Order: sequence, then C-alpha cells, then structure tokens
Amino acid sequence: MQVTDFAPLTALGLMSGTSMDGIDAAIVETDGERLIGFGPGASFPYDAEFRERLRGLIAHGGDEAEVARELTERHAGAVGRLLEGIGGVDVIGFHGHTVSHRPDRGLSRQIGDGAALARLTGIPVVDDFRSRDMMEGGEGAPLAPLFHAALARDMEKPVAVLNIGGVANLTWIGPEGELLAFDTGPGNALIDDWTLKTTGRPMDEDGRLARGGEADARALAALLEHPYFLKPPPKSLDRNAFGAGALGGASAADGAATLTRFTAAAVARARDFLPSPPRRWLVTGGGRLNGSLMAAIAQALEADVEPVEAVGWRGDVLEAQAFAFLAVRSLRGLPLSLPGTTGVSRPVSGGVLHRPPGDD
Ligand SMILES: Nc1ncnc2c1ncn2[C@@H]1O[C@H](COP(=O)(O)OP(=O)(O)O)[C@@H](O)[C@H]1O
Ligand SMILES: [Mg+2]
Repeated sequence: MQVTDFAPLTALGLMSGTSMDGIDAAIVETDGERLIGFGPGASFPYDAEFRERLRGLIAHGGDEAEVARELTERHAGAVGRLLEGIGGVDVIGFHGHTVSHRPDRGLSRQIGDGAALARLTGIPVVDDFRSRDMMEGGEGAPLAPLFHAALARDMEKPVAVLNIGGVANLTWIGPEGELLAFDTGPGNALIDDWTLKTTGRPMDEDGRLARGGEADARALAALLEHPYFLKPPPKSLDRNAFGAGALGGASAADGAATLTRFTAAAVARARDFLPSPPRRWLVTGGGRLNGSLMAAIAQALEADVEPVEAVGWRGDVLEAQAFAFLAVRSLRGLPLSLPGTTGVSRPVSGGVLHRPPGDD
C-alpha cells in the first residue's frame, strides 16, 4: 500500500529540550508525509525546583526513577491542558528528556515512561525515537530534519534550518530535497549556564547581557579549538560537550558576549560542510529570541538570518510538532532518519508504541 493512501491522523508531540526550560507540546495533522493541518501548541515551563532536580540528575546522577516519574506526570499534565476543549488525538509522540547522549558509545538515553503516559492520558504513545537509529550506526540525532523537509516542501531550495536549543543543529535541504543535518556546536546551554552562574537569571533575555559586554578573542579562539569543529558530519553532541572554562574570570557581560560569539562562530564553521550555500537561513528554537545571538550569527555568516516565523512556522513548538510528525511516521513504519541526517547506514524507522490499557 502506498503511504499516500493512509488517512491523516492527529498527533500531539511532546518535547523536553536540553535547555531544561520546560515541555513544548503541539498538535499536527499528518499522514506522515504531508502536513495537512496545525493544531494548537504551547510551552509549559518547569519551575526552578524541578529544573534543578533535572539538572542535578544529568550532572551527577540521583534518583532517576523519581525524576522520571515526575517528568512523565508533568507531560501528562501538559497533554491534559493542551487538549482542554479539543477532545482527543490519535497518538502522542513523547520524546522524553535526554539524560545522556553519547553517540560514540552508541548510547542516547531519555527518561520518561511511555507506557505510563499512555495509561495516564488514555492515548497511544510512541516513545524511544532514537534507539533504532543508533543500532543501525546512526548518531541518534538530529531527528527534526525530515519534519523540516516536510515544512519546506514548497520552498525554493537550498534552505538551511538552524535550531538553536541547548545545543544547535542545522538542517540543509538541497535543491532536490536531499538532506544533510548535524549538530553545529553549542546553542543556548553555555550562555544559560553562564548567565545563571554570574547573574542568577536562567537566560540572557534578548541577549541584553551579551550586548553590554565585549567578546574575548583569545578565549573565543581557545573554545573554537575543540576537535568537534573539524569533524565532518554526521555528528552530534552531548549537552555538556563544551565548557566555559576558557572564560576564566571574565565579567558576566564579557563572558556572555564571548559565548554568544562562540555559538555563532560554530554555525559559520558548520556552513563550510554544506554542499551548497542556502538561499535562506531560517532560525528556530529559543535562540532566535536572543537578539545578540541573531546578530552575531548574521555577522559570522555574512548572510541574513530570519526567525522561522518569517515563513509562517512556529519556532516555539517546532520540535514538538516534529515529534508529533515522527510519531505518525513511526506508526506507518516510515523512516525517521536517513544517512544524511544521522549517519545511519540506511533509512530506518523507529519508535516504540505503547497502547493504553483496554485499547486493542
Ligand atoms: N527571550 C529570550 N531571550 C534570549 N534567549 C531566550 C529567550 N527565550 C528563550 N531563550 C533561550 O532559548 C532556550 C530555550 O530554547 P529551546 O528551543 O526551548 O531549547 P531546547 O530545545 O534545548 O529546550 C532558553 O534556555 C534560552 O537560552
Ligand atoms: Mg525547550
């Protein structure tokens, strides 16, 4: 049977990103190939206390079972809130929260219990999106590129979609729709960690801190010596692959300015691996709201960069939409990744389906 014969489904995607800012949730209607409609989307921020527990678990371990249980319950809460007044959806795509991403060891681990989420919501849940890819030699990341390609279906190519979350990743969509995707390097995580440490605030709102500082060229050069930048794609990163050690005793503002330039310089390095220059750079993820970072990227690329809203996409919930789309692809047995997106040896599907009790 051809995939185009499948009736569209409504799917709800859930993403808890490496920034640990909260849960993004969004609904799409799709047959797994085409995007037929977009439902509501919303973000449900974590409170500082839960964020600290998540941060602690990732940094030095802890009561994983307890944090995972609470994470699952918070996701169930997000589903309930998003579905208020809507009724139901056919399937949930549940990414969970990454506690460790070590593609060099074939490991990427997300916490969150899909079976429990199916029970709590009464809706079938697809989770564990990354394992199959890694078993077949892939990096397990990034997984949004096929969704970006579906979104960009009717756009003039090549197009670059840059997602600046905790880590930043790039999808290049070529003239014939071919895909190359990989993590570029740091995204917001280092800037967030630095801002928290030096000012007590969880992020550099609109890049105001960085705007008042001056980048330290020597520290920047040291940061860019990381071997990751020389490695050709496919490649992906753990949230904590980079540290801010090179900053030494920099002021809060100068450190933020340096790390902002670092994220931007990493994007420029990534551009060197692209088969041909993109006509447009579309930026999604929370980093698009950091004016200093957007300006630094435009300067590093010597190109215009635009938030994805410029083409009508929703940057705040794009990843959540991607996991809704991928959940439907998983149900259809369609690939979630390709050699060009994760380095997997062949196109592979993935995901594990959990049905709620009594739903056969
Ligand atoms: N108004 C803003 N100004 C500057 N940075 C922002 C703003 N809003 C969000 N961010 C950044 O985006 C991050 C969240 O981005 P997000 O795309 O959700 O990442 P992830 O996918 O890793 O959760 C925040 O941690 C912060 O660094
Ligand atoms: Mg987030």
